Amino acid sequence: MKKEADNKPVLFVIFGATGDLAKRKLVPALQNLHKKKLLPKKFGVLGFARRQLSDERFRKQFRNSRNNWTAFSKNLFYTQGNFTKDEDYARLAERIKKIKQRLGACNIVYYLATPPSFFGNIAEKLKKHGLARESENCWRRVVFEKPFGHDLKSARKLNKQIRTVFREDQTYRIDHYLGKELVQNIMVVRFANSIFETLLNNKNVDHVQISVLEKLGVEGREEYYDKTGALKDMIQSHLLQVLALTAMEPPASLNADDVRKEKIKVLQALTLPKNINECAVRGQYGPGRINNKKIKGYEEEISRRSSTETFAAIKIGVHNLRWGNVPFYLRTGKRLDKTLAEVHVVFKQLPCVLFCKLPKAQTPPNTLTIRIQPKAGVSVRFNAKLPEMLQVQPRIMEYCYECEFGPTPEAYERLLLDVIRGDSTLFTSWKEIELSWLFVDMIERAWKKQKPKFPNYAAGSSGPKEADKLMQKDHREWLCL
Ligand code: BG6
Repeated sequence: MKKEADNKPVLFVIFGATGDLAKRKLVPALQNLHKKKLLPKKFGVLGFARRQLSDERFRKQFRNSRNNWTAFSKNLFYTQGNFTKDEDYARLAERIKKIKQRLGACNIVYYLATPPSFFGNIAEKLKKHGLARESENCWRRVVFEKPFGHDLKSARKLNKQIRTVFREDQTYRIDHYLGKELVQNIMVVRFANSIFETLLNNKNVDHVQISVLEKLGVEGREEYYDKTGALKDMIQSHLLQVLALTAMEPPASLNADDVRKEKIKVLQALTLPKNINECAVRGQYGPGRINNKKIKGYEEEISRRSSTETFAAIKIGVHNLRWGNVPFYLRTGKRLDKTLAEVHVVFKQLPCVLFCKLPKAQTPPNTLTIRIQPKAGVSVRFNAKLPEMLQVQPRIMEYCYECEFGPTPEAYERLLLDVIRGDSTLFTSWKEIELSWLFVDMIERAWKKQKPKFPNYAAGSSGPKEADKLMQKDHREWLCL
């Protein structure tokens, strides 16, 4: 159950506040929440980063023409500092004290929008300088951007380090896909509809596809991306979380612990065949064209030789009674011919006895599609008769979210609000992170044994041929309805 957002003043301290995330997502999300009057009346946002800026210059970076800008921007502050220097934390503590007095605030959210290599260190410094200490009525919460670690070992080390400072219930690990409207809708569609709940299992479902495709490239994040790649950047977090929601059993209740328990069971049941390289395909883009614009190949874009994958497609098993023998195909990549995030549940075909025998009949399998973006919505594909003649063709029944409710809200708005409310349902628990890395590390190890032949797809194409072959081998194909 949701805890009500109380109206007690709150201070957000954003580490890495001059970075891209703060600019594109965090501060705009806070401004929107302020506009919708969802933030406590008294709040402050204190940026902490290496660049030397005054409060005024810091505010200027986010300035816009929206009508709440003046009122909102008064609450933005900045302190310059190095994430590893004690003297800078002492200054930070001083500044926090002053802003707290001014706001009458005692609750603090620390948002770590920094490279993950700083996470552990920042947590320890917060403890050392007394900034993590809670009192009876004053909480401290910490938010980590993904990725949490870069493999199982580093994630465990980081978690241990953080645990000496913050309890699990104070720790919010962001996976912004969980804040997306249609990702939250997966559980509702499944567990609020008997027509779907009773059908989603290995008796009726042939396979499931989860695709998150992007036209965008690395967008100035070369340093991070080249150390990470598609598998760790997208599959370890977003795609496995979407898979867990698509495959989980109904939770005992909607509270965070019960939902997480069911997601954990799915992650524990993930399997890969012995020969991992046969079911885990990777790719890197070469030069090509997108929207009639010439696009450089990945290596040229990042100005170095690289064996980092910008595309990954994997066939996964969920070894439990509901999903045994139903493959889950996941794929994600950059610089592709389209941008979309979709889940397709593809049902088994009926035996070909009646309508499929008609000349020119088209009776593809039924599908349930959850379109996360763009054109957020849910659709069902079924076969119907054409007017007058006895001819059968597929048709789509559609729920269009945006036609009814307008654009989906920005995921970060919902997530930031949940941090203030103390609701961690839409954040990843440590156990989920641990299991995701355990799984992803198996693939990473198998990939290390074979040198990839890159580039193997052109920018603006649908990805490497090997990804299509992965489906064709099983007499299936990637869907894009
Ligand atoms: C981020 C990844 O987590 O998600 C990016 O690091 C990716 O590489 C992004 O582009 C995709 O998010 P969205 O919300 O644009 O689908």
